Amino acid sequence: MRRIVCLLSTILGVALVIGPTAVTAWAADSPTAEQMFQDTCARCHGTTGFGDGPDGTTLATHPRNFHDCDIMAKDADEKVFEEIKGGSASIGRSNDMPSWGEALSDDEIHNLLAYVRHFCKTK
Ligand code: HEC
Repeated sequence: MRRIVCLLSTILGVALVIGPTAVTAWAADSPTAEQMFQDTCARCHGTTGFGDGPDGTTLATHPRNFHDCDIMAKDADEKVFEEIKGGSASIGRSNDMPSWGEALSDDEIHNLLAYVRHFCKTK
């Protein structure tokens, strides 16, 4: 029995270390969309949304430049929401944009969508 408990706590310990620690921290002090973007999205999309994050440049599909407003305007909010929630494959694109529907609530995704859109607001 003790061995099982020990094994379980090891698994739990590993899961805690690998798990989305940022998500756990958010629950405590509900973060702004900008904080979520910097914690979760910037590694691919770049800290200022130019699609130049270190992990994004290694992918087969490079994340789009959020400041390219003509291109960004082609996708309706519902479609972009779906892409963040279900990943790019869910709307028939590549497999390179992960799905966030498990890690983030719909409200958080809406906030992130607004944050992504703000790169194309003039003010
Ligand atoms: C592992 C790298 C990675 C992470 C992390 C990531 N994305 Fe993406 N994202 C991509 C890639 C690659 C695409 C383009 C996919 C395609 O067009 O097939 C994309 C596409 C998008 C798009 C559609 C516009 C576009 O570039 O085509 C939005 C909006 C978006 N991501 C938002 C987010 C948000 C918000 C987060 C954080 C919750 C996030 N992404 C995290 C890689 C990533």
